[in-house]
Amino acid sequence: MIIVGSTNADVGIQRGMDILRNGGSAIDAVEATIRLVEDNPEDHTVGFNSYPNVLGELQLDASIMDGSTLETGAVAAVRGYREAISIARKVKEALPHVLLAGEGAERFAAEMGFEHQPHMVTEKISELREERLKEDMPQEVFAGLASRADLHQWVRLATDPDKTGGTVNVLAKDGRGDLCTGVSTSGWAWKYPGRVGDSPIIGAGNYADNRYGAAGCTGMGEMAIRSATAHSVVFYLKTGASVEEAGIRAMQDLNDLGGPYRAAMNIVALDSKGTPAGFTSTKGRTYIYQTSDMTRHIEQERTFVNVSQRWN
Ligand code: GLY
Repeated sequence: MIIVGSTNADVGIQRGMDILRNGGSAIDAVEATIRLVEDNPEDHTVGFNSYPNVLGELQLDASIMDGSTLETGAVAAVRGYREAISIARKVKEALPHVLLAGEGAERFAAEMGFEHQPHMVTEKISELREERLKEDMPQEVFAGLASRADLHQWVRLATDPDKTGGTVNVLAKDGRGDLCTGVSTSGWAWKYPGRVGDSPIIGAGNYADNRYGAAGCTGMGEMAIRSATAHSVVFYLKTGASVEEAGIRAMQDLNDLGGPYRAAMNIVALDSKGTPAGFTSTKGRTYIYQTSDMTRHIEQERTFVNVSQRWN
């Protein structure tokens, strides 16, 4: 049994391991681990108190995939609910669909009994947004952003490649050998309203298949969507590559993406035997994992793979 995560999953990984040790499923462990990250007010990239979109609204994305059946559930651009991963799981369990977005996802969350929370962003984060946006726009533009017909121009200016990522990935293998991957995020800080990243897109930010392995991504979601990065890792595993080779090849594929926007990418992966691995285009980044014989998780440096960045 093992749980693997992006380093910001450290607040929940012990809870996930306890679930596995008590005979719980990989999906229960992944959901419980991510819920603690979503509730962590110090993590500004996932769940409650994260960076909002350009208009100051928090819109969350999440997905969960069961590697034993390839069943998935996902939500995108959900406002007013902090437990995006649990709503995603309910989509998998209660509907014949795999992805709900916006108002429909919010309606479904209410139907499923999740508590509506209108105030998801603290004053401090609102002030940070104001400070950041005013670096690029005059006060009168900032004050009238919600009604501007040229919002897309201002989003381009206020874009910050260092804040295009930030997300939590959690992968688990349980005592029955089943794999699960979960991903949750508030997405790209100051994004255009309605922007959806890779986290709720199966194959892009999340993929799990018991037969081969699992992968989750953090970083600039647009890149993972265009390259189907999480699925690529699992596909390379399927062709016989080791988990180290599979992750490196999926990262290297990102260098084929043309166009003006390329930023950072990170992957955590697990093969079907439960071997963990982590990859990054930013030197020095880490991931964490804990096996059932460890009393605590360990933090491990990710394999660096060069993905050349460009912006504009
Ligand atoms: N990887 C998270 C996002 O781009 O939204």
